[in-house]
Amino acid sequence: MTQAAREERTGTGEPLSLGHQSVNPMSERRLMSIPPGVIIPGSLPKFRIYVLSPQGQYILWAQEGNTVTPDQLARLSNFGLKEVFVDLDEAFKYEEYLESHLEPILEHPGTSDSQKAEIFSKVSTNVVKGAFETSLGLGRMGPDVVQRTQAMIEKALIFIAEAKSLQAVTKMIGHDYKTYEHATKVLWFTVAFLGHHPEILERVQPGYPTFDEDRRTEVLRQCGVAALLHDIGKACISQEILNKDGPLDQVEWEILKRHPSDGTAMLLDSDMPLFVKKAVLHHHEDFGGGGYPMNLEGMNITILGRVLRIMDVFDAMTSRRPYKEAVPPLKAVQIMVGTPEEKKDGEAPGQDDRDRGMRRCFDDELLRKFIVFLGNAKLKG
Ligand SMILES: [Fe+2]
Ligand SMILES: [Fe+2]
Repeated sequence: MTQAAREERTGTGEPLSLGHQSVNPMSERRLMSIPPGVIIPGSLPKFRIYVLSPQGQYILWAQEGNTVTPDQLARLSNFGLKEVFVDLDEAFKYEEYLESHLEPILEHPGTSDSQKAEIFSKVSTNVVKGAFETSLGLGRMGPDVVQRTQAMIEKALIFIAEAKSLQAVTKMIGHDYKTYEHATKVLWFTVAFLGHHPEILERVQPGYPTFDEDRRTEVLRQCGVAALLHDIGKACISQEILNKDGPLDQVEWEILKRHPSDGTAMLLDSDMPLFVKKAVLHHHEDFGGGGYPMNLEGMNITILGRVLRIMDVFDAMTSRRPYKEAVPPLKAVQIMVGTPEEKKDGEAPGQDDRDRGMRRCFDDELLRKFIVFLGNAKLKG
């Protein structure tokens, strides 16, 4: 037994027979409750896990760095335990663990949808928080913003689960974590921006001003869902193409261009509102024409599709890409309002095209509103 485990054996009373025996009184330790479903068999959590005995004592159940076996987990479930505990001092290790096991956790049949939503929102909020503090240079996210972000993402995931699309999100996370991080940040920007613009939400869902508070929140949340799902079609594209260290060739580019249609196809049988499905389909259509997959123009592109076009490009540019450093936010805005160079006939646009001046890609009115929004958020250059 290690020194740490010996130190835990300070409590009194009969320990719960789960194969471990260290006991400590509740008052000595600050613990947080976690669902047992997040502990994936065969994983190596880098934190200690406790269970609460019927006598009200915390028992050390798993040492940090030990593999958790299916047998151990079966015993836990036989005892009907709905929660296990982690030391608050080790919360950051728990969060790292969640991040690296997000896909199997979301697939775990023993974890309820609401627990999955809670875990997903925790990990996703950390992603947004990281972007705030690093690439966007906004400084620390206040606790109220963290809380609101977490609640919003949590509800978005519950909605996705109810609409039978959780598998699509899980597939995206497992396939390409970068796409998931990007989608999470696009969700945040979309909701933060639209939250200030009820007149845009009215165009997303006619009748919006007459809705009660709950229904309005629901519309905003569904826009967040569209943002989170906009790139799920990338789950069908090989990692070699997604993470290629350089511009794509013509064939690869054609494959990449299928992701809005593939994503919409993945959602077709779900209970998502039509405007969500259309926004996924339209998020690479250019306002001035020439986008994909349908080469639509102007008002033929749905309003939410036009909003996502802006959020998507802004996040893609201000994030590090496999072959390029992140562009500072102000420089990204300059590129977005800039006039592109003339393209040579038949030239494949390639991923770098978005760094050449993109004014024609966006709805001018929406872009102006987004720039004002960014100004209020005080992004650093
Ligand atoms: Fe996309
Ligand atoms: Fe995207």
